[in-house]
Amino acid sequence: MFKHVEPYPGDPILTLNEQFGADPRPGKVNLSIGVYLTEAGKLPAMGSVLAAEAALAQTAGPRPYLPMEGSAVYRHAVRELTFGKGFDGIDRIATAQTLGGSGALKVGADFIARYFPQARVWASDPTWDNHHSIFAGAGLTVEKYPYYDAATSQVDFRAMLAALELLPAGDVVLLHACCHNPTGADLDDEQWRELAQLVKRRGLLPFFDMAYQGFGRGVEEDAFAIRHFAQEGIALFAATSFSKNFSLYGERCGSLSIACGDAGQAANVLGQLKATIRRNYSSPPTHGARIIERILTDGELRAGWQAELDGMRARVAAMRTALHQALCASMPDGDFSYLGKQTGMFSYTGLTAMQVAAMREESAVYLVGTGRLCLAALTAASVPVVAQAMVKAIKTPLTK
Ligand code: LMR
Repeated sequence: MFKHVEPYPGDPILTLNEQFGADPRPGKVNLSIGVYLTEAGKLPAMGSVLAAEAALAQTAGPRPYLPMEGSAVYRHAVRELTFGKGFDGIDRIATAQTLGGSGALKVGADFIARYFPQARVWASDPTWDNHHSIFAGAGLTVEKYPYYDAATSQVDFRAMLAALELLPAGDVVLLHACCHNPTGADLDDEQWRELAQLVKRRGLLPFFDMAYQGFGRGVEEDAFAIRHFAQEGIALFAATSFSKNFSLYGERCGSLSIACGDAGQAANVLGQLKATIRRNYSSPPTHGARIIERILTDGELRAGWQAELDGMRARVAAMRTALHQALCASMPDGDFSYLGKQTGMFSYTGLTAMQVAAMREESAVYLVGTGRLCLAALTAASVPVVAQAMVKAIKTPLTK
């Protein structure tokens, strides 16, 4: 019966993570998957999360199904985190609790496939690999717009605008709100303003993915693009993830918000999001959402969470600087200036797939095949190991 089922070639990030787990070498370093580790190389359990969980344990009771769209308290709290306190268009935004950022993208993709079946989805070149899989998997055509300029390690903003200018109204433009994955090259606020004008004029439908809020410039600053577009009255999608900024990866907590023209449209859109969710998995789980809503609605816990997140961001920045210094010291004639220009958890190193493979095979240092390196998993101890492995891979002439 299943003879025609072909083997799964694996996922460029998650399968690599499995390979890392199975690698027996003691000094191995995993800079592939986008997770934040502490200076001790461990996944943190944040103090605010533990405190919220302890408080919840006191009142643990029955666990009914959540509504299809998720917990109301969570939805309100995360909508405010995304769009800002005091945003006066809040009643025209439909928000659903989702299974992480991927779940938000999938629910949004299904919604687009149903209500905008002709729309093509335009993703930055490059983008997170799963963007292609999720939108294509929902039956949509995914195309690329120019984004990263390897020569400058920055966004080729003029090429991006020129490509988007040619799109027909109603096409979807996928945008990384902050901490672009994989390149770490973001638009600045002025560029976002200019892009908003283009999107408005051309009648495009922006779909923001914000998986790293708090890891770029700060919790509020990282939401600038979404907030600006929403304030401009542009209809938009915003997928958010709380995997990294609450260190709650396995709880699968995220949200999908759709900014509509008015409250009536938002009610209809929310209804159809509920239907989409029902068709996929009925309703989301409770535990992680309860932790997040507790933190976001309790002044003290929230302040504690924000301070912890600020500390995490500072540690990533310190690792970025440390790696840059180590690389420059080991290879003074090399150009590692890209590290200083990119932001967020990742660096796009420009290493080739063969150099990445050499690092993995010879030095047990794991990067994604595209050359993406997760700075948030570096530690003071691993920086010299990684720098040495990188320099060795760069200097060794590759024969295979
Ligand atoms: C990543 O890009 O490494 C993370 O977002 C994890 C994932 O699901 O790929």
